[in-house]
Amino acid sequence: MIQFREEIVHRLAQIPGLSEKLVRPLLEKPADPSYGEYALPCFRLAREWRRRPNEIAEDLARQLGSFGSIASVESVGPYLNFKIDPLALTRSVLGEIGEKGPDYGSDKLGEGKTIVIDYSSPNIAKPFHMGHLRSTILGSSLKQIFSTLGYRVASINFLGDWGTQFGLLALAYQKWGDNQELEARPIRYLYELYVKINQAAQEEPAIQEAARENFRQMEEGAREPLDLWNRFRTLSIQEYERVYSRLGVHFDVYSGESFYREKVQGVLEELKAKGLLQLSQGASIVDLLPWGLNVALLAKSDGTTLYLTRDLAATHERYAEYRFHRLIYVVGSDQRLHFTQLFKTLELMGRPWADRCVHVDFGRILGMSTRKGQAVFLDDVLDEGKRRALEKMQANPEKFAEVADPDLTADICGMSAIVFSDLSRRRVKDYEFDWEQVLAFEGDTGLYLQNAHARVAGIMRKSGVALPSSIDYGLLLGEGETLDLVRHLSAFPEVVHRAAEEYEPAFICTYLIGLARLLHQAYKALWVQGRPPPLAEARLKLLWSVKQVLANGMRLLGMTPLERM
Ligand code: ARG
Repeated sequence: MIQFREEIVHRLAQIPGLSEKLVRPLLEKPADPSYGEYALPCFRLAREWRRRPNEIAEDLARQLGSFGSIASVESVGPYLNFKIDPLALTRSVLGEIGEKGPDYGSDKLGEGKTIVIDYSSPNIAKPFHMGHLRSTILGSSLKQIFSTLGYRVASINFLGDWGTQFGLLALAYQKWGDNQELEARPIRYLYELYVKINQAAQEEPAIQEAARENFRQMEEGAREPLDLWNRFRTLSIQEYERVYSRLGVHFDVYSGESFYREKVQGVLEELKAKGLLQLSQGASIVDLLPWGLNVALLAKSDGTTLYLTRDLAATHERYAEYRFHRLIYVVGSDQRLHFTQLFKTLELMGRPWADRCVHVDFGRILGMSTRKGQAVFLDDVLDEGKRRALEKMQANPEKFAEVADPDLTADICGMSAIVFSDLSRRRVKDYEFDWEQVLAFEGDTGLYLQNAHARVAGIMRKSGVALPSSIDYGLLLGEGETLDLVRHLSAFPEVVHRAAEEYEPAFICTYLIGLARLLHQAYKALWVQGRPPPLAEARLKLLWSVKQVLANGMRLLGMTPLERM
């Protein structure tokens, strides 16, 4: 596609008063593809030439006519629209997809740059709530998107593995602890203990007192509670890893707040030396009131430190290790103040890279429940998705009989549905979770995409036609539907870029649904069986390309494309 853009730029530059440098950045993609592949808005030229933009567009259209691969140049209001010759376009787009295959949409843009993504980051012994689910899905998709654009990506799970609750938990375990339970199902068991000790603490305030003392000792490095804490942590991570792998999610590093329990002192000292730290009723704070960011609490009066202090320490370390181009925190919008305080404090400390830190925030998922009640554990959510997907598949016994591994397929379907529903809207929006809607085969859903992908796979299997290396693309030009598909396919790389720029996998969702819809409309025009070989081959090539791009996009979202379902 890039060659067409350049062709237009070169041609425009031959017109007196225009240059490549001036024109190149102005050229854009029209919002409505029926206007053509590229458009030149004439506002900027109008200002420089002191003429009306519509007049300039008309003039240029007349002068340019058609040239090279550009079939027509037309003015529409203040815009100059370029349409690429359909045959040249088809050959170029399908040729490129054929050559690049799984790499169509990828780029070298990020070469030499590192992006650090901090996501999922649940709290040990506390529920893995819907916010963590969203962070996991979003973060993992962003990881794929940035990797495909050539960045080196480091994925970090910053566990909530430190804080007063571990004082409580140690106490609970000393009281009621059962080693077998802990080993068999650490995440649930620790959560149960945590709930139980909290209830007990409500009746017996002394428990809170003892827990605080426990935690204070831990912060000072006391051996016994730390050993116990370490077991809680290790066992929990093992179980998290198992559940994440079900979702195809992997972390390069399991870090956590506990890593910074000693390093926070250095941060506090630096803040003090820079005159940023103040004492307020025994607590240490940074005053961010002048920026409307309230007061940032960094150490309580008993000397114990906080989440924010540990995050401050962690960013230093991350910069030292990765020299990141961006550090992305994928965390719910309810922590907006936390991150604005964090970034502001870094700036006040004089970190020149403070503005490379980004809070990629998101709204809440409301009302997700499973058979076991209000959703608390990731496993339960995935199981529920799978159970429901299996039920739906069984409703069509004929197709179901053809599925080789129903258990795995149902698992993938359930997850695709959940992942898609989560990524398909702009992330800042809260949304109501409804299993029926999420698992529907029609509408903007993950199963609609899987279905489109599997259907093309089926057509290709049954066609009995092999793809030759040379295709007569001219045979695809008879039908409007096929050209619409080709145009849509050509836009994929740009969509991936936009998704990265705005940290919005939703753009890819919208794009893929659009592609699946166009495919749906084009089935007739793409009939393969019984057609003469050159036509069947050309159509098959287009189908193959659609399947490839569907698969590439789905992988960027974290979905495994299915051959049958
Ligand atoms: N554990 C935190 C929570 O569950 C999220 C941590 C996000 N990452 C960070 N570096 N603060 O709310």
